[in-house]
Amino acid sequence: MESLNTVIKYVSAIVGFIVFVQMFYLSILKCFRKDGRGKIRLFFLCFFTGPLFVNAFSQFIAGIIYLFVQINNASFWESSIATQTLMMNESVGYYVLSGLIFFLNSFIASWILSRKLKAKYPSLVVFVYLMSDVLLLLSMRTIDGSLFGNSELAVLLFSLADFLISMLSYGLFYFLVIRGLSSLTDRELATERRVFILPPALFVLLYATVCFSLFYYLDGAAVLCLSGSTILIEFLFIWAFYIIIRNINATGDALEAKEEVKALSVEVMEALAHTIDAKDEYTKGHSVRVAAYSRMLAERMGLSADECENVYYMGLLHDIGKIGVPNEIINSPTKLTEEEFSVVKMHPGLGFDILSEIKSRPDLAIGARWHHERFDGSGYPDGRAGEEIPLPARIISVADSYDAMTSNRSYRKYLSQEKVKEELKKNEGTQFDPGVVSAMLKIMEEDSEYSLHE
Ligand SMILES: [Fe+2]
Repeated sequence: MESLNTVIKYVSAIVGFIVFVQMFYLSILKCFRKDGRGKIRLFFLCFFTGPLFVNAFSQFIAGIIYLFVQINNASFWESSIATQTLMMNESVGYYVLSGLIFFLNSFIASWILSRKLKAKYPSLVVFVYLMSDVLLLLSMRTIDGSLFGNSELAVLLFSLADFLISMLSYGLFYFLVIRGLSSLTDRELATERRVFILPPALFVLLYATVCFSLFYYLDGAAVLCLSGSTILIEFLFIWAFYIIIRNINATGDALEAKEEVKALSVEVMEALAHTIDAKDEYTKGHSVRVAAYSRMLAERMGLSADECENVYYMGLLHDIGKIGVPNEIINSPTKLTEEEFSVVKMHPGLGFDILSEIKSRPDLAIGARWHHERFDGSGYPDGRAGEEIPLPARIISVADSYDAMTSNRSYRKYLSQEKVKEELKKNEGTQFDPGVVSAMLKIMEEDSEYSLHE
């Protein structure tokens, strides 16, 4: 029976070791983009800087430091246990010290390693190291059957139970935490990194300090209680990270869905803009260009990112009211009669009515209604002047005229840059808002190749 116990203990220790290394390796792999020889190098680096090796190393360093302190000052930490031998496990100070070194070592080693090997997320590498530390520390339980009168069967059962619990926690850690982590790294979500580093870091530090101290002072049933509670803590810890990662992924899903809806609405608006432009043989691409120029102007005038985006959408749809203007009038080869022109003048109001139906973006209608107003109040449809005309409409007005001047017409080629500048300056303060004109002139100044035309 005794030899069977020994065999089981050794086999479970070896299997536990292999599973731990495998789990650690797979976990760390999720944080890197490596294959082939890089993968092998990564494996060795991670192994020798990983929790198992760091654990042994930290105990070794702590042993040397503690020995040194004891020789020089026997009353420094633990005068009552001033052991004269190398049996370090007799002293609390030694355990606390090795716990601290263990923590610092795994933190620093994983950080340096992840930077050197260009991990996708160094903080996640640190997280994996620390979490592995936590699992390793928690699985170093001292449950054994000797508490129950040295019954060999009890010893055997406890060893088996301990082994199975460790396997279960490694498995749960891999399937719940690491797999969630990998979908997170694949999507490269911007997450709050502190969530991943602080809890395990504090846990390892606290655990290394408190638990080793408790192990020293407690015995018998108390050790059993403590070991029992470590199992509970272990599973709670895995569960907590499972929930955190799941929530981050859920937030990511919601963000992606929002992005999709946004992309769809932009595409729909652009399709609508093309439909409007298709009515007019000479204004192909007009609305998209006006939208782009309007956004440039808004950016140049220092509007916020949201406002610039809005101006772009308003620019796309500013002429949507032309849907209601008959094609013969829009494409009339001769000068429009007064009656025909009054029909054309209806397109801002019509566009406003159409776009007002989009309740989720009521501001879209602004550009459509007031883009033909003039700064001096002589425009249409409402004859608004100066700042009574909403700023996006004043911007679109300049962009609209700029595109008209820089596009080819049946009767002329696009105007030279000098001529366009001249026209803008001439109509500054009468047709156009001077602030918008000066922004347009600056944009033109930078466009020395004159690429901003049809
Ligand atoms: Fe218009």
